[in-house]
Amino acid sequence: MFAVHLLSFYFSKLQEDQIKKVDRYLYAMRLSDDQLADISARFRQEMEKGLSNESNATAAVKMLPTHVYSTPDGSEKGEFLALDLGGSKFKVLQVKVSEDRKGKVQMESETFPIPEEFLNGRGTELFEHVAESLKSFLRKHHINHTRKALGFTFSFPCAQSKIDEGVLLSWSKNFKARGVQGNNVVQLLRKAIQKVGDVDVDVLAMVNDTVGAMMTCGYDDQNCEVGVIIGTGTNACYIEEMRHIDLVEGDEGRMCINTEWGAFGDDGVLDDFITSFDREIDAASINPGKQLFEKMVSGMYMGELVRLILLKMAKKGLLFRGQVSDALRTKGTFQTKHICLIEQYKGGLENTKEILEDLGLNPSEDDCIAVQHVCTIVSFRSANLVAAALAAILTRIRENKKLKTLRTTVGVDGTVYRTHPQYPKRLHKVVRHLVPDCHVRFVLSESGSAKGAAMVTAVAQRLASQRKEIDDTLAAFALSPTQLQEVKAKMRVELERGLKKDSHPTASVKMLPTYVYRTPDGTERGKYLALDLGGTNFRVLVVKIRTGMRNSVRMYNKIYAIPLEIMQGTGEELFDHIVQCISDFLDYMGMKNTRLPLGFTFSFPCNQTGIDKGDLVCWTKGFKATECEGYDVVDMLREAIKRRNEFDLDIVAIVNDTVGTMMTCAYEDPKCQIGLIAGTGSNVCYMEEMKNIEFVEGDEGQMCVNTEWGGFGANDNIEDIRTRYDREVDGGSLNPGKQRFEKMTSGMYLGEIVRRILIDLTKHGLLFRGRITERLKTKGIFETKFLSQIESFSTILKDTVRELAPNCKVDFILSEDGSGKGAALITAVAQQHYTDKQEPH
Ligand code: BG6
Ligand code: GLC
Ligand code: GLC
Repeated sequence: MFAVHLLSFYFSKLQEDQIKKVDRYLYAMRLSDDQLADISARFRQEMEKGLSNESNATAAVKMLPTHVYSTPDGSEKGEFLALDLGGSKFKVLQVKVSEDRKGKVQMESETFPIPEEFLNGRGTELFEHVAESLKSFLRKHHINHTRKALGFTFSFPCAQSKIDEGVLLSWSKNFKARGVQGNNVVQLLRKAIQKVGDVDVDVLAMVNDTVGAMMTCGYDDQNCEVGVIIGTGTNACYIEEMRHIDLVEGDEGRMCINTEWGAFGDDGVLDDFITSFDREIDAASINPGKQLFEKMVSGMYMGELVRLILLKMAKKGLLFRGQVSDALRTKGTFQTKHICLIEQYKGGLENTKEILEDLGLNPSEDDCIAVQHVCTIVSFRSANLVAAALAAILTRIRENKKLKTLRTTVGVDGTVYRTHPQYPKRLHKVVRHLVPDCHVRFVLSESGSAKGAAMVTAVAQRLASQRKEIDDTLAAFALSPTQLQEVKAKMRVELERGLKKDSHPTASVKMLPTYVYRTPDGTERGKYLALDLGGTNFRVLVVKIRTGMRNSVRMYNKIYAIPLEIMQGTGEELFDHIVQCISDFLDYMGMKNTRLPLGFTFSFPCNQTGIDKGDLVCWTKGFKATECEGYDVVDMLREAIKRRNEFDLDIVAIVNDTVGTMMTCAYEDPKCQIGLIAGTGSNVCYMEEMKNIEFVEGDEGQMCVNTEWGGFGANDNIEDIRTRYDREVDGGSLNPGKQRFEKMTSGMYLGEIVRRILIDLTKHGLLFRGRITERLKTKGIFETKFLSQIESFSTILKDTVRELAPNCKVDFILSEDGSGKGAALITAVAQQHYTDKQEPH
């Protein structure tokens, strides 16, 4: 009994000595709590540097946007292919995700070796090897009957501007193929697949393995918002607030960021923690100076670190009685998998002995204990470093969410985490110690990154098919140059039909004479009253024009609302209301007793037989007052003035708004001979040769024609470009079947067209999560002004006119002063005309 006790005391004393010796020798690798907190704080700063626009370019930790916006929500379904390249194994997989979530993911996978020459050869060959492997997988599993969506796990730092694109920033780990850095790897893969042939796949998404791991775990645990890899390489991703991601537009929502923490320290911030062994590893690597954190942490380097330490200790006589073997001198002979065996709870020491003997060494019991402890220090340092960086991420998430304590899940993967007997336990413990305010659940990503990649692909596929559905819905609105040429030709035909005597009465484009024979010449003068009715606003104006000097027009105006019940009441009510507004205006101006000549801008189609006579052909836009159509609106106005019996006016001219606009602009620019309204309604007027206006007497000179082109289409000749939304809007309007062109072009209808599209897309689940609100159901709720707030399209008109009428050089002038000024000018011109006719020459 006593003897046994003594013996075990002797052994533990001996063990203690060995451990102390190693501890002393590797003191620089043993990190205290304070040091870990310090490293964690440094990583916090590095993350911020990477996220910010100003410092990203020089940041070591790149913080790459992944364009993955959410973890799986259970709606993912379908059959996907996945490629998993960049870890210790290259795999091709098939992932079947069924609709009813939980546990319903089936996977088949096959590992393909990648011969050394592909890692270091030409990139195209590497990708062709990948494509060949995919092809043979498809053959073997008889998968080629339908086109499959493919998700590509590519475990290297890539700049992504969308989910199916990734420009390789630099190789890491043991990859070094030429001609890949700086290129879009998705494109390289697609090309290789095409070259190999017979593989019917769509590469829809590219993800980093960290993202794959997070998504894999996220499928089972919705709280998972961090993915960590501790394998051949090391890295982490997490869900960041969009507003903190300078590199991506938009502030709403969240996006997964691939930190690429392996590069932590590449700018020198970890120099005081980097040992001479780390330097040696780095110098002998394929990427010296790069991935310094990774080289202290990950599976590709830990074994080699241990070998270098053992070699040095042996040379110093601290191990193996100073004996060194050839194998121990050879790079790569001692691997991370050996560390895992050596640190096994049971049998660890025996494993140590075996492994060392395999290296041609002859270890004593002491040596084995010491070597085991070297392994522990190296792997523990790795876990400590990962814990420090992870603590920084967790703290950031906690602060982003403004929480006192964070509850979250971290998905972890990688051979080190998976196979090292003590690593997970140590890592968890240190993390909990470093960030006690974060309650972390660690989940091993059992099925690797590919399942997660399939989830991302499912989302990408859904988005792509939604995009396609949206594109298909909207395709009918995109008019090709040929279609536009056709519209132009048809409009030309209709204009001519409107001008010809026999076709004029039935023409869809009415081509109404205006009795305006010329544009202003600058000799106009006087003081006029003008009305402007039919656009968004009703206005009453006084316009003073002074002779001789151009630009010397002064205007005073007041805007009045016309209530809906008046727009759609009786004609008498409408004109009484107008006269009441005039009365108010004259009071306001103190002009009740001056009998001014009046120009009446009335923006509806009128059959004119003189400048001051106009029978309303039909209401358009939002007006529908009864007992007006077919009557002379000038008479109606006169009668309303009489009814009021308060003031008198001399109504000289009735003017369409297009004509008013042309006159307003022509006053500034005599070349102006077209007036266009793109407002509540749509219409154009222009100066035509009298001889072409067959239904008006006289062949000399010109007259302005109000085309009323809004009516274009009434004879069904543009049905090919009308969409179902145009028909719906028409059907719900005050004048179904009429003004079809206007309903496709003007402000009164565009918002409504958009609203109907939005409803339709929502019905198909393509917008607003399929929820149609009551407000969206309200007619007119989506105003045309929203269109201009959302997008700017001011040059489209000019550009298209230039394309369709290449022989016409057109200047567009905005009529700043509206049509009222033009109405006054017409009144002035009309008065002159009248006087000219009265006075003998
Ligand atoms: C696997 C993933 O599970 O983990 C790989 O599917 C990833 O894509 C790997 O690269 C990381 O571990 P290792 O040890 O294989 O590099
Ligand atoms: C390397 C890669 C990184 C990857 C990690 C783990 O650090 O640069 O993208 O996530 O290895 O495989
Ligand atoms: C409607 C009217 C027309 C007017 C146009 C612009 O199309 O019918 O007369 O010019 O709207 O306001």
